[in-house]
Amino acid sequence: MKMISTITTWLALMTAFLFVSPVVIAAPGDGIMGTSHDFSGVASPATGVCTFCHTPHKAQSQALLWNHDLSTNTFSWTDPTTTAGTEYPTIVGDQYKGVSVKCLSCHDGSVAVGDVGWWNAGEPAAPLLNFFIPPNSPGSMGNAGNMFGNHPVAMPFPWNNAPSTYNGKTTGDGIILGDWKSDPQTLGIRLFNDDGSGNTSAGAVAGQTGIECSSCHDPHNGSGVEDVFFLRGTLGGSDVPYICLKCHTK
Ligand code: HEC
Ligand code: HEC
Ligand code: HEC
Ligand code: HEC
Repeated sequence: MKMISTITTWLALMTAFLFVSPVVIAAPGDGIMGTSHDFSGVASPATGVCTFCHTPHKAQSQALLWNHDLSTNTFSWTDPTTTAGTEYPTIVGDQYKGVSVKCLSCHDGSVAVGDVGWWNAGEPAAPLLNFFIPPNSPGSMGNAGNMFGNHPVAMPFPWNNAPSTYNGKTTGDGIILGDWKSDPQTLGIRLFNDDGSGNTSAGAVAGQTGIECSSCHDPHNGSGVEDVFFLRGTLGGSDVPYICLKCHTK
């Protein structure tokens, strides 16, 4: 009986999930409308396409005018360092200022996708869209804060083939600097810099450069997106524009 009810619950969850997921009709690079980040047609009452992430007033942070409740999970990797010796960070979902926790606010599955802070001149009593990205589904990562198996983010990038310090972590001594593209920004990758007090902004700065989720993905499916999954490169290939070879030289 337990097994059956578990299966029934799962089927109900998956059906609800499929029901609210918009049909992906937008081609890579064609903008957010019609992508899986366009919730304008599925929320009730109907909202605008930006509302689930940004608001013009009473935002939760000045940076990005952010409107989605943040996860309170603490995200960390199980390994202490990368092979190069760069320490993995621990980031707190509602404290770290970099972009990655904004993504994880939906993608760790702990906060409802429509749990916004402000809409129609008020804080909605209930999430505008009350479903969660289910644990262990393709779109989920960082469940309960566990980032094991995920590519590093909130980490330094050896911009201009020199070590960097970002989010308090410094490129490890084992880095082989020649194994890196000197400036992936010229290939459409988005890099970030950290002013040393934890404030991040877009663009590389010598010695202070790092990567976030949106280094590889553009959540708006903007013109720099070259393939599915909002990728700033292609999913396959043996040279650029293959996404991995926009940063790594292997
Ligand atoms: C699913 C969430 C989501 C939606 C929906 C969304 N954004 Fe964003 N937006 C983000 C995130 C995350 C960032 C930070 C990404 C980065 O800096 O790389 C961002 C960054 C921005 C920025 C500043 C950085 C830049 O690209 O210049 C602007 C402006 C912006 N969004 C406008 C919009 C507008 C306008 C809409 C609606 C048409 C929209 N966004 C819809 C998540 C979203
Ligand atoms: C408001 C909630 C929300 C935010 C914030 C958000 N996402 Fe999503 N995202 C979703 C949902 C819901 C889906 C569709 C379900 C899924 O793929 O699991 C999705 C799908 C995706 C996909 C798959 C796209 C496809 O076409 O299959 C990628 C990649 C993605 N998001 C990356 C990001 C990144 C990177 C950020 C931050 C820059 C981000 N998301 C921020 C809710 C969000
Ligand atoms: C180093 C580049 C890179 C970074 C950084 C990165 N991703 Fe991805 N992501 C990818 C690639 C490549 C894929 C496609 C993987 C595949 O399916 O083969 C992907 C796929 C996804 C998907 C779709 C999964 C699916 O199968 O439907 C989501 C959602 C996603 N990423 C979210 C995120 C979030 C959230 C972050 C930050 C915590 C992030 N990504 C950081 C490269 C990256
Ligand atoms: C935006 C730039 C960027 C892109 C794109 C990128 N990486 Fe990375 N990658 C990094 C950085 C930065 C590190 C950490 C470097 C360090 O150890 O200091 C890293 C580390 C790694 C590591 C070493 C992990 C360890 O523990 O030693 C592997 C393997 C890796 N990336 C694979 C990939 C693959 C596969 C892709 C394509 C899906 C990819 N990377 C795309 C920037 C990138």
